[in-house]
Amino acid sequence: MKAIVLNRYGSPEDLQVQDIPKPSPAAHEVLVKIHATAINDYDWSIVRGKPYLYRLMFGLRRPKMPVAGMELAGVVEAVGDQVSQFQVGDAVYGDTSEYGFGTFAEYMCIHEKALILKPNEMSFEQATAIPHAAALAYQGLVDAGQIKSGQRVLINGAGGGVGTFGLQIAKTYGAEVTGVDTGDKLQRMRALGFDQVIDYKKVDFTKTGQRYDLILDAKTKHAPRAYLRVLHPEGRYVTVGGDLHRLLQLVVSKAWIARTTKKHLQIVALKANKDLDKINALFAAGIIKPLIDGPYPLEKIPWAISYFGAGQHHGKVVIAIK
Ligand SMILES: NC(=O)c1ccc[n+]([C@@H]2O[C@H](COP(=O)([O-])OP(=O)(O)OC[C@H]3O[C@@H](n4cnc5c(N)ncnc54)[C@H](OP(=O)(O)O)[C@@H]3O)[C@@H](O)[C@H]2O)c1
Repeated sequence: MKAIVLNRYGSPEDLQVQDIPKPSPAAHEVLVKIHATAINDYDWSIVRGKPYLYRLMFGLRRPKMPVAGMELAGVVEAVGDQVSQFQVGDAVYGDTSEYGFGTFAEYMCIHEKALILKPNEMSFEQATAIPHAAALAYQGLVDAGQIKSGQRVLINGAGGGVGTFGLQIAKTYGAEVTGVDTGDKLQRMRALGFDQVIDYKKVDFTKTGQRYDLILDAKTKHAPRAYLRVLHPEGRYVTVGGDLHRLLQLVVSKAWIARTTKKHLQIVALKANKDLDKINALFAAGIIKPLIDGPYPLEKIPWAISYFGAGQHHGKVVIAIK
């Protein structure tokens, strides 16, 4: 089978299209014929081996996994003898990251718990765009953020995957939503339904004097005190990612913040594939619609990772595998 193989840390140009053996499923695994996959922040980090801290997880000197990629939609082609949820022919999708990487290929064997059934009305390209970013947005706004009707919400890093799903989820609560990003993404964000947009290269949203009930951040760049400044008295700031030293500052100042204010600052650790049933229901109701950049062919994955890393994409970068 064809796969995009990663032999060493470097740049996306070091990735190679290679023929590798088609795997066979272990007892709790299913073999999936992959129809679509998507590019994520993890892929950009795995390929470069940066930030270096990630090498503790991905392999110190060279990547432990030969094939990257962690979101897929496809069809079950074979099942291990202990598999209970799926049968051959089922259309499935999911975020594989808790059980392994390897979706940049024509086939993958993965634990059945990494997958759920794909609704018929959802295309493979739409399904692969959903699990990671939509679950982060849902768990950030609903679980950690405890979003309430009519709130003022700000989403930072709003032009990517988390931001576009975040907008759609926040709007179901009648929220007024401001999105922060840059470039031609701002025009697309206005068209998607953001009430206000802010260009982070021109305006620092923590210094405008505006206050928010809830902030969902996909790119934490400031110190905790900056976020405290823009929250209403009982407001919540929830981040899903950003600069490591800023995230560390959040962790070490958590106890002090809890003692001195009713404002709440929190980092969300993704629970992979949790809430996909709720996302499926929002999709069926026409409330959630993935914003897809692509689809591009398997051979363009090295280019697509560079494109993602340069931040030129809109929504989710999707790869269709024929
Ligand atoms: N919590 C977890 O368990 C977990 C798991 C996996 C991933 N993550 C994190 O989740 C996030 C993924 O979000 P995503 O998929 O939506 O990423 P994405 O598609 O890359 O979107 C992020 C957006 O933020 C913009 N941006 C860059 N710098 C910014 C700044 N200073 N201020 C405002 N916006 C800025 C980027 O645009 P430009 O670059 O063009 O400027 C891009 O449009 C990442 O931070 C990732 O590390 C978290």
